[in-house]
Amino acid sequence: MKVLVATEKPFAKVAVDGIREVVEQAGYQLVLLEKYTAKEQLLEAVADADALIIRSDNVDAEVLDAAKQLKIVVRAGAGYDNIDLAAATAHNVVAMNTPGQNSNAVAELALGMMVMAVRNMYNGTSGTELKGKKLGIHAYGNVGRNVARIAKGFGMDIYAYDAYCPDEVMVAEGVTPLHSAQELYATCDVVSLHIPATPETKGSINYALLQNMPKGGLLVNTARKEVINEDELIQFMQERADFRYVTDVMPAADQKMHELFEGRYFATPKKMGAQTAEANINAGIAAAKQIVDFIQNGNTRFQVNK
Ligand code: 3PG
Repeated sequence: MKVLVATEKPFAKVAVDGIREVVEQAGYQLVLLEKYTAKEQLLEAVADADALIIRSDNVDAEVLDAAKQLKIVVRAGAGYDNIDLAAATAHNVVAMNTPGQNSNAVAELALGMMVMAVRNMYNGTSGTELKGKKLGIHAYGNVGRNVARIAKGFGMDIYAYDAYCPDEVMVAEGVTPLHSAQELYATCDVVSLHIPATPETKGSINYALLQNMPKGGLLVNTARKEVINEDELIQFMQERADFRYVTDVMPAADQKMHELFEGRYFATPKKMGAQTAEANINAGIAAAKQIVDFIQNGNTRFQVNK
């Protein structure tokens, strides 16, 4: 049984060691494909793999066609928009994610980016504090809940909008539930995005929504670039010189935005929300364990293409 770890953006070594231990203890073989630069390398590597662990790596119909032995692919992380689920199902491949395993790392980065933005990108000038400001959490899943937990320590007033999360869950955690995205953006000084990229959410952060934000508004995106309507964000930022955007998912127009919005726009060079040893260990080892549990016991608890 061959388990391939294909990560264009590699896990920390300590996480790979942990994955290897789980895989080898089960009597399987671990194969690593890290920092690959061409899809052909992935197509070649998956040819004899029975199981596959990925991060944001794309698994489309072509990859699945090439993976003749593949039984299971596990996205070591939360968002599985990089897997063609219909193609996986058509190829009889079980697709899973590892929900919650890397969410604290992403939440810590979201708060870190908030501090950086309100302190004027650490340029030494006088900024503002997060204490007493209204924070809007857009989607109250694993990352959103961690953001709320940490933001409480900063003394922020916390609001959230999530069409799928019952009000009681938020109220029990000291968060005020709001009932539309418009209401969230109109209420909060800072909005932190935690929605997945789906056909419904793609491009949904648009001019009409953003224009609800109060003066001095800040949008933090540690989710996906696809949820932003980039042209409309740029238009909005051109009209609203007070508005700031910091993101861990680099827009296609990164260069242009740097030039246009100097001092109120920042993007990390590579998505790094889940780039911590702890998150890599948690998500990577969970993925390896889920593979072993699926092969040995048929456990499909975390399957996302049911
Ligand atoms: C996720 O969906 O789990 C995060 O976006 C992390 O993605 P990464 O594994 O590519 O860092």
